[in-house]
Amino acid sequence: MGYRIGVLGGDGIGPEVVAEGLKVIEAAGVELETVDYDLGGARYLKDGTILPDSVLEEWRGLDAIFVGAVGAPEVPPGVIERGLLLKMRFELDLYINQRPFKLDAGDGHEAHDFVVIRENTEGAYAGEGGFLRKGTAHEVATQGSVNTRMGVERAIRYGFDLAGKRRNHLTLAHKTNVLNFSGDLWSRAFNEVAEEYPGIETAYNHVDAACIYFVQDPQRYDVIVTDNLFGDILTDLGGAVSGGIGLAASANLNPDRTAPSMFEPVHGSAPDIAGQQKANPIAAILSAAMMLEFLGADPAAVNAEVIDAGARIRAACDACTDMTGSTAELGDAVSSKL
Ligand code: NAI
Ligand code: MG
Repeated sequence: MGYRIGVLGGDGIGPEVVAEGLKVIEAAGVELETVDYDLGGARYLKDGTILPDSVLEEWRGLDAIFVGAVGAPEVPPGVIERGLLLKMRFELDLYINQRPFKLDAGDGHEAHDFVVIRENTEGAYAGEGGFLRKGTAHEVATQGSVNTRMGVERAIRYGFDLAGKRRNHLTLAHKTNVLNFSGDLWSRAFNEVAEEYPGIETAYNHVDAACIYFVQDPQRYDVIVTDNLFGDILTDLGGAVSGGIGLAASANLNPDRTAPSMFEPVHGSAPDIAGQQKANPIAAILSAAMMLEFLGADPAAVNAEVIDAGARIRAACDACTDMTGSTAELGDAVSSKL
């Protein structure tokens, strides 16, 4: 029973780190059928293609999509982000963006790990808004934030379910003191769903305070659930406090499995170091491990070996986080531990 995976290396360091992810999957003994897609900033500059509907349709038949990074300095901001990444998230209903973080022991604290669950299809990224009198001295730009009870609640439920499999603690991060409409909906949904999970301890942090705690006291966290924009920012900070952006992995999940989920490192295409084998591939390799664990956990076809391969890859990465070397050397080092 093979898995069919779409591979989108993308731009800059994307193809370099994706190659290492695939190398390590093979070293772990998992055979995948891969289908390559040439999309991203470079492709857009070549012929204007962003994400054709025909490709989106093809993707619906895949088991997962593995992405490096997309974005090139020559492309105007928003074209690839909205047209490719956000379109993928919205069209495939990848409503959970799951980002795990690990802190080594040190400075008087034990090793620690926590997970951010970012709502991935709504909020300020839904594209609500517009211009009035654009380009004039009197121009107006509005950018709304869309929060549906359904969308908010399913992200919160996912957070409670995940916390129940971990240390039974879930924190809501928002800004309810100022965002009195969306924050109100989020906190009501959070508190109502919490009643269904009496075994889970809950907490609430304003997102600005969460930024302080991420740096000064991340040990307080097990699972954090938050909206799309706050989650985007908090997870870059999460990466920065837990070993750097080169280690930060992510899964864009459709937990209902009505479409393939997408797995990618948190980082971008890093044009400053592209093509030099300087990129750390660990974030992409850990994202590949999340992909295997998600695929193997499909209730319709559980595959313990594939889940185990994901766990082994994560352990192998842990053993290599302090290593230095080229992108390929690090991929080889992880592979050799398997
Ligand atoms: P970036 O993450 O590409 O780079 C930020 C800094 O981190 C750079 O100094 C880079 O060299 C370094 N860095 C990133 N990944 C690294 C790795 N694996 N190993 C070592 N160093 C690493 O973010 P930036 O510069 O804001 O964006 C560059 C392009 O990537 C833009 O076009 C942006 O839109 C796009 N982007 C794409 C994302 C995606 O595909 N999901 C996410 C973030 C940005
Ligand atoms: Mg980001």
